[in-house]
Amino acid sequence: MSHALSRVNDVSEPVIHAAGLTKVYGDTVAVGGIDFDVPPGESFGLLGPNGAGKSTTMRMVGAVSTRTAGELSILGLDPDQHGPEIRAQLGVVPQQDNLDMELQARENLLVYGRYFGLPRRVIAQRADELLAFAQLEDKAKSKVDDLSGGMKRRLTIARALINDPRILLLDEPTTGLDPQARHILWDRLFRLKEQGTTLVLTTHYMDEAEQLCDRLVVVDKGRIMAEGSPSALIREHSTREVLEVRFGSDRNADAAKRIGAIAGLGERIEELPDRVLVYADNGEHALAAVIESGLEPVTSLVRRSSLEDVFLRLTGRSLIE
Ligand SMILES: Nc1ncnc2c1ncn2[C@@H]1O[C@H](COP(=O)(O)OP(=O)(O)OP(=O)(O)O)[C@@H](O)[C@H]1O
Ligand SMILES: [Mg+2]
Repeated sequence: MSHALSRVNDVSEPVIHAAGLTKVYGDTVAVGGIDFDVPPGESFGLLGPNGAGKSTTMRMVGAVSTRTAGELSILGLDPDQHGPEIRAQLGVVPQQDNLDMELQARENLLVYGRYFGLPRRVIAQRADELLAFAQLEDKAKSKVDDLSGGMKRRLTIARALINDPRILLLDEPTTGLDPQARHILWDRLFRLKEQGTTLVLTTHYMDEAEQLCDRLVVVDKGRIMAEGSPSALIREHSTREVLEVRFGSDRNADAAKRIGAIAGLGERIEELPDRVLVYADNGEHALAAVIESGLEPVTSLVRRSSLEDVFLRLTGRSLIE
């Protein structure tokens, strides 16, 4: 990975600029006019639920889908005019792995490298470096079909890096993986970030966004609801702590009303089907007040606010439906 390590970001211009970016399919406004800039070296995220327009945005940024309206420039180039030049400098990890299942892991990297017209010797050397980076050295000769889901995902990332891209686009890098496989992937992506690769990723996991993104936009129904670093978004849109109390299936609604009536309890109360959330800077104090009022929660938990709370606040819905 020395080629990536040694890269110096000599431009302070944003590597991606989008303004009023719009994509319409028939009657569906998939992306409804979004604005964002990504400076070089940043790890930038789009966090949003199913159908928010994340993949549609990624395809436009990846210069494989044309925009309906708005401005878009990638590395200073307009994808409508310079698709091939842009694609040559991008690494793309699509939402669905599209590896060649019949080929061995290493062969997938070699074949992909040839698309970029790289010399065979360079491709072979990079393939070996990237297999090591993806912790797949002992799977080099395995057929892709025989790899686990997490291994396939790592191979797709390795493949996306074969052309030493300036920007790596990752559409839901860890969706569908088990917790251990997700942590291995996060570690690999974190290394790329440390090496200065610009990462643009989509996710509907708030923990993933918190782990990997320097800055993110919260998207819903094709629009940006908020923008900032994970910690700034939480500070701006939520309280420091959250008290979660459960009262049993049929009793949460009634309990929520009674909690709402407790004077000076918290800033805000959310009633979810299975629990009541009390937003308060001091969750233990809030819990003491709830118990003091005569309510008897079946379970209670005090935690720090997360991006999930930000999303709930902004949209009234949960991220994972
Ligand atoms: N090729 C297409 N033709 C018609 N409609 C489309 C097409 N691609 C996406 N859409 C619609 O655009 C909207 C946004 O879809 P998109 O795939 O961008 O969402 P997403 O945020 O990636 O969702 P998910 O988390 O489920 O992957 C949806 O309503 C979807 O049905
Ligand atoms: Mg998607």
